[in-house]
Amino acid sequence: MRRKLVVGNWKMNGNLAQNEQLLRTLVNDLQGVDHADFAVCVPYPYLFQAQQLLQGSNIAWGAQNVATQESGAHTGEVSAQMLKEFGASYVIVGHSERSNAYCESDANIADKFAIAKQHGITPIFCVGETLQERESGVMEYAIANQLDAVLSVSGGALLDHAVIAYEPVWAIGTNKTATPEQARAAHSFIRERVAALHPGAAETVRILYGGSVNPRNAAQLLSMPDIDGGLIGRCSLDAADFERICRAACGI
Ligand code: PGA
Repeated sequence: MRRKLVVGNWKMNGNLAQNEQLLRTLVNDLQGVDHADFAVCVPYPYLFQAQQLLQGSNIAWGAQNVATQESGAHTGEVSAQMLKEFGASYVIVGHSERSNAYCESDANIADKFAIAKQHGITPIFCVGETLQERESGVMEYAIANQLDAVLSVSGGALLDHAVIAYEPVWAIGTNKTATPEQARAAHSFIRERVAALHPGAAETVRILYGGSVNPRNAAQLLSMPDIDGGLIGRCSLDAADFERICRAACGI
């Protein structure tokens, strides 16, 4: 049985004062809510703050990107080892906002996935189709291509207990959410694809839905078969909204 996981993706938002208030509220309000796993992926400068405020709580923390190299002359990059030193449990890789704006290739994303895993950090690997791909009937083809780029270079052991986020590009930041049925269909397609390449990993990999999840649609989405939790953007910046989504994942 896979435990549900709800992850907040803060993107490039926050400041020390707001973060402190948000994290302290979440720590307090989610205390004892133990039917699911929770995490926030914060901008790099706030990792130390997240570590300080979340230590000992039931909320893990992570980053939104990682370098493909171990160390060295890579100005502006942050390594998996550095994230690990801050106690990061998760890192988002392949988010469409990054792959589109910063030209991250599939090979690049596969390397990020592998290096995170090698350092004991769980990668949250994002895949999803554009509206054009959905409307022209090539959605599965598009998702399969993104998946295969990582699945074909990662051995089954790397995939074991990894996290994949299905994030239709048209649903991110738009208030257009996939219907529970659309999301379920995509999630089972992803799980079947994992099973085809790495049968052992298909049962343990958690597949999150992301794209305009809010407290009103969370319960229905997160109770669908094959949906193991959510990757939450805007609503993770509001303590009350994020808490309600976390509770929805627990069925409460
Ligand atoms: P959103 O973002 O919830 O604001 O749509 C989700 C994401 O990009 O992970």
